[in-house]
Amino acid sequence: MGPRTARLLLLLGAFVAGLVLFFAVIFIVTGRSPAPVVLQSAVGGPFKLTDHNSRPITDQDLKGNPFLVFFGFTHCPDVCPTTLFEVSEVLRELGPDAKGVRALFVTVDPERDTPDKLKDYLSSFDPRVVGATGDADAIRSVERAYRVYSKKVPLDGGGYTMDHTTIVYLMNKEGRFVAPFSLKRRPKDAADDLRRYL
Ligand code: NI
Repeated sequence: MGPRTARLLLLLGAFVAGLVLFFAVIFIVTGRSPAPVVLQSAVGGPFKLTDHNSRPITDQDLKGNPFLVFFGFTHCPDVCPTTLFEVSEVLRELGPDAKGVRALFVTVDPERDTPDKLKDYLSSFDPRVVGATGDADAIRSVERAYRVYSKKVPLDGGGYTMDHTTIVYLMNKEGRFVAPFSLKRRPKDAADDLRRYL
């Protein structure tokens, strides 16, 4: 290793250490994990879908309040129902003063998740959870906007399940991505976090 390489490595090391320190400080100060800047601008964007009442819903309808967006499907055996339950707990904790806040549950399985199916499925959760579906192109487009992965997986004995990204995205009232929203904390703490963006 020549002196130039050594100096380069040293600089690189210092840069990485600085970066780690920077994020550590943000984490300590805010108590939340910062989203990388690149990710922040790359997540979210316009979409045109159909809600569980068969009405059109776009990103514009959610603006003006912070909102949560997450992806799943009604046949999901565990992750989606758990997420929906946890999100409902947070919304309940948030109380009626934040009635403009919405949580958008976008299906990755539009083939089976019609508006009626979503409506029926979501009736067991907080009414501020809005189901969204659309044709294959519309779903593909919103998945691309949120950098979501989903894939049909055939089941033994017929039928299929879906692999999918399980991140809950916190969007601010301008509709811009803030950070992944953690549900692995007390509903009250999660609600307080959300309230800061009202
Ligand atoms: Ni799921």
